[in-house]
Amino acid sequence: GIDPNFDENREHVGEENGLDVWGPVDPPEKLGIHGAHVAVDYDICIADGACLENCPVDVFDWVDTPDHPESEKKVEPTREDQCIDCMLCVDICPVDAIDVDAS
Ligand code: SF4
Ligand code: F3S
Repeated sequence: GIDPNFDENREHVGEENGLDVWGPVDPPEKLGIHGAHVAVDYDICIADGACLENCPVDVFDWVDTPDHPESEKKVEPTREDQCIDCMLCVDICPVDAIDVDAS
Protein backbone atom coordinates (compact mmCIF):
# COMPACT_ATOMS: atom_id res chain seq x y z
CA GLY A 1 0.00 0.00 0.00
CA ILE A 2 0.85 3.69 0.00
CA ASP A 3 3.69 4.82 2.27
CA PRO A 4 2.01 7.03 4.91
CA ASN A 5 5.33 8.85 5.38
CA PHE A 6 5.61 9.69 1.68
CA ASP A 7 6.12 13.38 2.43
CA GLU A 8 9.37 12.49 4.23
CA ASN A 9 10.48 9.52 2.16
CA ARG A 10 9.79 10.84 -1.33
CA GLU A 11 10.90 13.87 -3.24
CA HIS A 12 8.38 16.61 -4.00
CA VAL A 13 8.80 16.85 -7.76
CA GLY A 14 6.22 19.49 -8.60
CA GLU A 15 2.51 20.08 -9.05
CA GLU A 16 -0.14 18.81 -11.43
CA ASN A 17 -3.59 20.40 -11.62
CA GLY A 18 -2.74 22.31 -8.44
CA LEU A 19 -1.87 19.15 -6.46
CA ASP A 20 1.50 18.14 -5.04
CA VAL A 21 3.32 15.31 -6.85
CA TRP A 22 5.84 13.06 -5.08
CA GLY A 23 8.33 11.08 -7.15
CA PRO A 24 9.81 9.12 -8.60
CA VAL A 25 7.91 9.95 -11.78
CA ASP A 26 8.67 8.44 -15.19
CA PRO A 27 5.51 8.45 -17.33
CA PRO A 28 3.64 6.56 -18.54
CA GLU A 29 4.74 3.67 -16.29
CA LYS A 30 5.63 5.56 -13.10
CA LEU A 31 3.34 8.37 -11.94
CA GLY A 32 4.12 8.85 -8.24
CA ILE A 33 1.85 10.02 -5.42
CA HIS A 34 -0.61 12.87 -6.06
CA GLY A 35 -2.03 15.09 -3.30
CA ALA A 36 -1.05 16.00 0.23
CA HIS A 37 -3.89 15.92 2.77
CA VAL A 38 -5.57 13.28 0.61
CA ALA A 39 -2.83 11.41 -1.24
CA VAL A 40 -3.25 8.74 -3.92
CA ASP A 41 -0.41 6.49 -5.05
CA TYR A 42 -1.07 6.35 -8.79
CA ASP A 43 1.35 3.43 -9.13
CA ILE A 44 -0.84 1.31 -6.81
CA CYS A 45 -4.37 2.46 -7.83
CA ILE A 46 -6.19 -0.08 -10.03
CA ALA A 47 -9.16 2.23 -10.77
CA ASP A 48 -11.55 0.33 -8.51
CA GLY A 49 -13.61 3.52 -8.11
CA ALA A 50 -15.09 2.84 -4.66
CA CYS A 51 -13.35 5.90 -3.22
CA LEU A 52 -14.76 8.24 -5.85
CA GLU A 53 -18.27 6.74 -5.72
CA ASN A 54 -18.51 6.83 -1.93
CA CYS A 55 -16.68 9.96 -0.77
CA PRO A 56 -19.39 12.01 0.99
CA VAL A 57 -17.95 15.34 -0.18
CA ASP A 58 -16.89 14.38 -3.73
CA VAL A 59 -13.15 14.94 -3.39
CA PHE A 60 -12.11 12.82 -6.39
CA ASP A 61 -12.11 13.13 -10.18
CA TRP A 62 -10.98 10.55 -12.74
CA VAL A 63 -7.86 11.36 -14.73
CA ASP A 64 -6.72 9.32 -17.74
CA THR A 65 -3.38 7.53 -17.44
CA PRO A 66 -2.97 5.60 -20.70
CA ASP A 67 -0.28 2.89 -20.72
CA HIS A 68 0.09 2.75 -16.95
CA PRO A 69 0.62 -0.94 -16.03
CA GLU A 70 -2.01 -1.02 -13.23
CA SER A 71 -4.88 0.93 -14.83
CA GLU A 72 -5.73 3.40 -17.59
CA LYS A 73 -7.23 5.94 -15.17
CA LYS A 74 -6.61 7.13 -11.62
CA VAL A 75 -8.51 9.10 -9.00
CA GLU A 76 -7.15 12.59 -8.51
CA PRO A 77 -7.93 14.13 -5.08
CA THR A 78 -8.94 17.34 -6.87
CA ARG A 79 -10.90 18.80 -3.95
CA GLU A 80 -8.73 17.50 -1.10
CA ASP A 81 -9.37 20.77 0.75
CA GLN A 82 -13.02 19.66 1.14
CA CYS A 83 -12.09 16.39 2.89
CA ILE A 84 -13.82 15.81 6.25
CA ASP A 85 -11.44 13.03 7.36
CA CYS A 86 -14.12 10.34 7.44
CA MET A 87 -11.48 7.77 6.33
CA LEU A 88 -13.97 5.90 4.14
CA CYS A 89 -11.73 6.02 1.08
CA VAL A 90 -8.74 4.75 3.07
CA ASP A 91 -10.76 1.83 4.44
CA ILE A 92 -12.55 0.91 1.21
CA CYS A 93 -9.68 0.89 -1.30
CA PRO A 94 -8.89 -2.77 -2.09
CA VAL A 95 -5.21 -2.03 -2.78
CA ASP A 96 -4.60 0.55 -0.03
CA ALA A 97 -3.65 3.30 -2.48
CA ILE A 98 -4.92 6.26 -0.42
CA ASP A 99 -3.53 8.02 2.65
CA VAL A 100 -5.47 10.73 4.51
CA ASP A 101 -3.52 12.76 7.03
CA ALA A 102 -6.20 13.35 9.66
CA SER A 103 -3.77 14.51 12.36
FE1 SF4 B 1 -13.63 11.73 1.06
FE2 SF4 B 1 -13.65 10.77 3.55
FE3 SF4 B 1 -11.68 10.12 1.87
FE4 SF4 B 1 -11.82 12.59 2.85
S1 SF4 B 1 -11.45 10.71 4.03
S2 SF4 B 1 -11.43 12.03 0.70
S3 SF4 B 1 -14.03 12.90 2.96
S4 SF4 B 1 -13.85 9.56 1.63
FE1 F3S C 1 -7.95 3.57 -6.97
FE2 F3S C 1 -8.46 2.46 -4.65
FE3 F3S C 1 -9.94 4.45 -5.49
S1 F3S C 1 -7.89 1.40 -6.51
S2 F3S C 1 -9.93 4.23 -7.68
S3 F3S C 1 -7.75 4.55 -5.02
S4 F3S C 1 -10.66 2.67 -4.37
